[in-house]
Amino acid sequence: MTYVGQPVDRLDGTAKVTGEARYSAEYPYPNVAYAALVHSTIARGRITRIDSAAARKTPGVLAVITHENAPPMKPAPKVTPMDLSTLASGTTVNYLNTDEVHWNGQPIAVVVAETLEAAREAAHLVEVEYAELPATVDFAAEEGNATPQKNSLIAEGGAKKGDPEAALASAPFSLDLRYTTPGHNHNAIEPHSTTAFWDEDRLIVHEGSQNVAWTQGHLAVRFDVPKQNIRVISPFVGGAFGGKGMVWPGTVLTVLAAKVTGRPVRLMLTREGVNRTVGGRTPSIQRVAIGAEAGGSMTALIHTSITQTGKVGGGPEQVTSQTRHLYDAANIQVQQNLVELDALSNTVMRAPGESIGSFALEATVDELAYKLGMDPIELRARNEPARNPIDGKAFAHRMLLECYEVGAKEFGWGERSPEPGSMRDGKWLIGMGVASAYHPAWQFQANVTVRLSADGTVLIRCGFHEMGMGTSTAQAQIAADALGVPLGAITMEYGDTALPTGPSAGGSGQTASIAASLITACEKLRRSVFSVARKTPGSPLRGRRFADVQARDAGLYDGSRGESYQEILRRADLPSIESQVGSDTRLGEITGQVRFMSKLLMDRRRWVKAACGAQFCEVRVDSDTGEIRISRWLGVFDVGKVINAKTAASQLRGGIVMGIGMALAEETQVDPRNGRIMNAGLAEYHVPVHADIPSIDVRYLDDPDPTMPLGLLGIGEVGIVGVAGAIANAVYHATGKRIRDLPITLDKLL
Ligand code: MOS
Repeated sequence: MTYVGQPVDRLDGTAKVTGEARYSAEYPYPNVAYAALVHSTIARGRITRIDSAAARKTPGVLAVITHENAPPMKPAPKVTPMDLSTLASGTTVNYLNTDEVHWNGQPIAVVVAETLEAAREAAHLVEVEYAELPATVDFAAEEGNATPQKNSLIAEGGAKKGDPEAALASAPFSLDLRYTTPGHNHNAIEPHSTTAFWDEDRLIVHEGSQNVAWTQGHLAVRFDVPKQNIRVISPFVGGAFGGKGMVWPGTVLTVLAAKVTGRPVRLMLTREGVNRTVGGRTPSIQRVAIGAEAGGSMTALIHTSITQTGKVGGGPEQVTSQTRHLYDAANIQVQQNLVELDALSNTVMRAPGESIGSFALEATVDELAYKLGMDPIELRARNEPARNPIDGKAFAHRMLLECYEVGAKEFGWGERSPEPGSMRDGKWLIGMGVASAYHPAWQFQANVTVRLSADGTVLIRCGFHEMGMGTSTAQAQIAADALGVPLGAITMEYGDTALPTGPSAGGSGQTASIAASLITACEKLRRSVFSVARKTPGSPLRGRRFADVQARDAGLYDGSRGESYQEILRRADLPSIESQVGSDTRLGEITGQVRFMSKLLMDRRRWVKAACGAQFCEVRVDSDTGEIRISRWLGVFDVGKVINAKTAASQLRGGIVMGIGMALAEETQVDPRNGRIMNAGLAEYHVPVHADIPSIDVRYLDDPDPTMPLGLLGIGEVGIVGVAGAIANAVYHATGKRIRDLPITLDKLL
């Protein structure tokens, strides 16, 4: 393969650094109007009076839309497994079609004005009175009211093997620990923005999205127009991490405002607006208990969690996911529990479940290693399963111990003296920690067309999503190899519902999903081109067999006989040849979806598929102030085949950076009296800055998984998993203090 695996520069790199790449708030519409949201200041109740007189008088204001004058919308669609677009409902609230308030921060009015400034100023002038109702807003206080989570599409509620509580009670060595993690806000560099325009009954929406088809399907329901009348355009997304997977109020209300004013309307959420109207990561309370024999073999492994959803929506989080797969304990129990609050729906955020679940699990495993007097890597090796521990299924790919082996050597793990507090550099206490990363590998349906033109260029069309990961570059590499053309011959079109429906950019599954269809489409195209050539008088490929033909040098060749694509099409007098995978008719899409899902489920019954890895971290803790600095990082990953060495490393590194934020800084603080987020902005919600991040070394084994397209396992999420655990373990090694409540801030160390 010429391109697959290479560190190819991003094809969209130039467009991005020159500003030519357009994001959703940057599409020029003459006559565009600007919107601003008014948020509720109570968590639950009814609006008894809303006075927009002063707002209306603000110069430039075009409309103040409230529940008193908003046109009707249809309620959010109910989630059904047959129509995945129903998953896109951020919340079930019918915004501005009700006087009810369901969370503190819910949008209750939209101001539209000629300028952004006028809209935002007027939004502050809307006066609201409420009849408040008692609200359940304090997650910690609800611990006793948690109920077992039902199995859902994405997260099984619980599973059990043997009698773990009895095994724990009789184990010669045991730990039974409690962990907490706070909520986290989405803070992608591009805040959520929408530009919407109605042309009669046709709607155009520019929206940074992880699934343009879901956004389209959702808006079709809400505004009661046929799906084909709506076009969602989203070629570039400034990061998303799960925060742009659902349809949040800003999108719906921009479309509504465009309808009311008859103007193109643009809403750019402030950071605070994102925090109040876009769901974040749930907080969690977790119990991890492990029983082990003196030699380290685990006899009992229990992991339970409590997380929150909003009463108006959100999804259960699979906190115990990694615990089902990482250790070969004789008795295992995992159970996820839920509380429902009068709060904004939670949503997915990079490795939902595993990122926080692995913190609790991996910190407990480390603590057990100390208790047993064993090296933590040795303890993991002792409990490495040959098959999936909970149900005996086969692993499609599993090279976790190889990751540790490479990592230990490269990181210098052997030079660590295990005693806590034993490594020092002046006032700095030095600690080293490890933890395992784990994330399931997913695939979704993707429709793709590939068109070869007589000038030798190739156009690939698929409504996938480029959120900064380099997806289009990786797919161009795959297609260039499959067709034997130079990378420069390929043009990619993506991020648009006018294209064949692509997969969600989520669950680390986008690249594998597109690749599967793209490889098939390229194969079909090679066959079509060959059958044209074979029949064309004068073609050197006449009488040849397809099985003997190779795609190379921008053409088809059987040994030295053959010719370029350009020559084949010219000789046959064809302007282009196209191949297609998937269907774009509504019925074809639904049957395709059903067929794909049943194939996927069959596959899942046979295999456990996942990426995994070993995180190595070194911290320096100021012995006077408790300040924690990350001084070194190495992540070694088993992610199957890597398509682009450069963008893959970036993505894994980005996951580690986000994990460092989770471990040391990030925390959504909610006022327990009224459910209001107290730190809804980057001044008070801390994310790591450059000075917080050391140079991060990322390696991968590059061993293809035989059950996945091209052998790739997905890399978007596995990088964050285990990061907080490795840091907590390193902090313990440095200081002798176990911090079991994230974030690990200096006050907790003093
Ligand atoms: Mo992801 S949290 O599946 O965008």
